[in-house]
Amino acid sequence: MPHLFLFLLRLFLFLRVLESHSSRFDYLEGRVRLNNHVASMLPKISPLGAPQPFLPLAPSPLAPFTNTSEPKLSGLCTLNFTTVESLISVTAIDCWEVFAPFLANVICCPQLEATLTILIGQSSKYSDVLALNGTVAKHCLADVEQILMGQGATSNLKQICSINSSKLTEASCPVKNLNDFYDMVDTTKLLTACKKIDPVKECCYQVCQNAILEAATTIASKGSDVLAIDAPQVQPEHSIRVNDCRNIVLRWVASKLEPSQAKKVLRGLSNCNVNKVCPLVFPDTKQVAKGCADGMSNKTACCNAMESYVSHLQKQSFITNLQALDCAETLATKLKRSNITADVYGLCHISLKDFSLQVGNQEAGCLLPSLPSDATFDRISGISFLCDLNDNIPAPWPSTSQLASSSCNKSVNIPALPAAATNQSCKRTFSTCTVY
Ligand SMILES: *[C@@H]1O[C@H](CO)[C@@H](O)[C@H](O)[C@H]1NC(C)=O
Ligand SMILES: *[C@@H]1O[C@H](CO)[C@@H](O)[C@H](O)[C@H]1NC(C)=O
Ligand SMILES: *[C@@H]1O[C@H](CO)[C@@H](O)[C@H](O)[C@H]1NC(C)=O
Ligand SMILES: *[C@@H]1O[C@H](CO)[C@@H](O)[C@H](O)[C@H]1NC(C)=O
Ligand SMILES: *[C@@H]1O[C@H](CO)[C@@H](O)[C@H](O)[C@H]1NC(C)=O
Ligand SMILES: *[C@@H]1O[C@H](CO)[C@@H](O)[C@H](O)[C@H]1NC(C)=O
Ligand SMILES: *[C@@H]1O[C@H](CO)[C@@H](O)[C@H](O)[C@H]1NC(C)=O
Ligand SMILES: *[C@@H]1O[C@H](CO)[C@@H](O)[C@H](O)[C@H]1NC(C)=O
Repeated sequence: MPHLFLFLLRLFLFLRVLESHSSRFDYLEGRVRLNNHVASMLPKISPLGAPQPFLPLAPSPLAPFTNTSEPKLSGLCTLNFTTVESLISVTAIDCWEVFAPFLANVICCPQLEATLTILIGQSSKYSDVLALNGTVAKHCLADVEQILMGQGATSNLKQICSINSSKLTEASCPVKNLNDFYDMVDTTKLLTACKKIDPVKECCYQVCQNAILEAATTIASKGSDVLAIDAPQVQPEHSIRVNDCRNIVLRWVASKLEPSQAKKVLRGLSNCNVNKVCPLVFPDTKQVAKGCADGMSNKTACCNAMESYVSHLQKQSFITNLQALDCAETLATKLKRSNITADVYGLCHISLKDFSLQVGNQEAGCLLPSLPSDATFDRISGISFLCDLNDNIPAPWPSTSQLASSSCNKSVNIPALPAAATNQSCKRTFSTCTVY
């Protein structure tokens, strides 16, 4: 039985209070104070569908949304924001000010990028170009930021998501006009591969991703003799160009679909990449190496060191269950390099959810499903998002004989898989079958 619970992050109510007393910079320090509050709330976390307890004393969760400021627009952006109105409001909630840094990698930034891609794609129907020029791009990105901020999104989205206005141009891609695009690309094939994707199968078989790469490579070759490009030093430039053309191709795909469908496809594609990489920054492991020295003769010392280490990881970000697997593997590799060869995860009961952001205490982690849903907002529960609480899976300690497996094959090696994971249609991940 899959156990997906709606993990109510009422924490944010307290963060609102906290924020009014302290600068954003104090936030992580504030966590310590917060934790007592949050821990006392934990029993109130209720399963999906159950009546939600309401916290007295909390400010209205609607406050940041009702007083939405009128965005100050440049008037110089040529895009039609009306076409993506609903995507923009979803993005604003995904990137809501307090959570944005912790949801950046998995939810906020992929959603922002999808929205920008769809915005330009949809506008190409009228402009016949799949890119903005540099000047217009600057105005448009500023306008998008203003609109999102007006709806509660964080004010430093550009930094959090490392986006600048060149992301809205053609960059180094030599094709931006629709006519050129149709001349060069087998658009029927591309659309067939990408108009609808299975977000799980796509990550394994890459049907749409391969079609996009093929189209991007094709248009990237415009104006250059491909056969002449064989000098190794040309390679990096070529791959940057293909990557820039990939954005053009994505915009074209987005122009051919309803915005809501385009969003599903784009998020499905970005998810494949998100799940491939552990986004955490690993501090030096020497304290763990010290604590676990001498063949772990002192278990207490070893596990204390390990717990302390893991608690640093837990301040960083919400991550998905598949990312947690990557993270466990990465950390194991580091530990092995510092001569820890035995399974410290098993010894110290480290589970997958220990790698994700913890609110409150060890029991309150939220590991996101491999296909994370958008954050939602309602008056009663505030901002919430789904966590995969079917996550008490011991972090696997990779054995030396085992080769790194591809993400679509990962669960094959995980012990204690939840039953859902053995379902034929979703055997590759923990939670895919439980989402929607
Ligand atoms: C709404 O926001 C504006 C500008 O941020 C502020 O001046 C005003 O007092 C706010 N109104 C309420 C009711 O909070
Ligand atoms: C923007 O798009 C909306 C909906 O697609 C359409 O009704 C409206 O006319 C467009 N506005 C402009 C200025 O093109
Ligand atoms: C950029 O595009 C706008 C609108 O299409 C146009 O008015 C402007 O002249 C262009 N600027 C440059 C530098 O090409
Ligand atoms: C945007 O970022 C890229 C690198 O990511 C950089 O090369 C470029 O100069 C930046 N453009 C602007 C307009 O800041
Ligand atoms: C094991 O480590 C703990 C904590 O570092 C220490 O208090 C304890 O004395 C150690 N035990 C032994 C047998 O060395
Ligand atoms: C690992 O152990 C070997 C042999 O005991 C030793 O030579 C090496 O310096 C150790 N490496 C680290 C990083 O502690
Ligand atoms: C998954 O792993 C099995 C063997 O462990 C291999 O035969 C199969 O080709 C892999 N599937 C994919 C999609 O990588
Ligand atoms: C497998 O999952 C599908 C939906 O993904 C469901 O319809 C089916 O009943 C499941 N089969 C088993 C044996 O649980």
